[in-house]
Amino acid sequence: MAVLKVGVLISGRGSNLQALIDAARTPGYPATIACVISNVPDAQGLARAEKTNILTQVIDHRAFKDRQSFEQALDKKLDEYGIELVCMAGFMRLLTPWFVARWRDRLINIHPSLLPAFPGLDTHKKAITAGVTSSGCTVHFVRPEMDHGPIILQAEVPVLIGDNEQALAARVLEAEHRIYPEAVRLIADGLVNIHEEQVFVANVDALAKSKVTQ
Ligand code: GAR
Repeated sequence: MAVLKVGVLISGRGSNLQALIDAARTPGYPATIACVISNVPDAQGLARAEKTNILTQVIDHRAFKDRQSFEQALDKKLDEYGIELVCMAGFMRLLTPWFVARWRDRLINIHPSLLPAFPGLDTHKKAITAGVTSSGCTVHFVRPEMDHGPIILQAEVPVLIGDNEQALAARVLEAEHRIYPEAVRLIADGLVNIHEEQVFVANVDALAKSKVTQ
């Protein structure tokens, strides 16, 4: 069976990229990581991809006159590599409506909170300050508004008494590494549908949420 060709966009450490690489190497996983593109030349994640002979590419946004010309270069590369699904994994650039429309429903992101709570930066600090008893992470389709779009999977993680940002971030990150490969698997298996901006997963067994189409 054909596997889905995934392109991963990173800006830094790449631990979610690593989770996707590891999943893609397990027998029967329905997606392959066909390329990794970083907007930051020395992003740690690039070395993770190189170690497993995945094509890497740096497209440094600072070399472009504006957002759209950067994104045109990005778009061209993704096309060149035959990418079918783009995963943002710690990719810290806001994308324009043009790029988001171009990759609509083929572009996903992971964010370290239970969206719609705490979009943007300093997520864990915001969660601790707000006094919530649980936080978590979200994989969602990307829409022009930052950290917004149809939710594919979420995992809830407790906020414990005495937690600081680092402790909470580490606990949430473990959950991120679990749900990102799972979300990609659901999409690659063709189980994810979007209807009126809500995600429906067409397989009860694979569900981490309670909406079912069949
Ligand atoms: C992850 O926690 C990811 O959820 C977050 O950046 C981190 C990247 O870590 N992304 C965002 O905040 C996007 N809004 P990683 O490079 O080790 O995967």
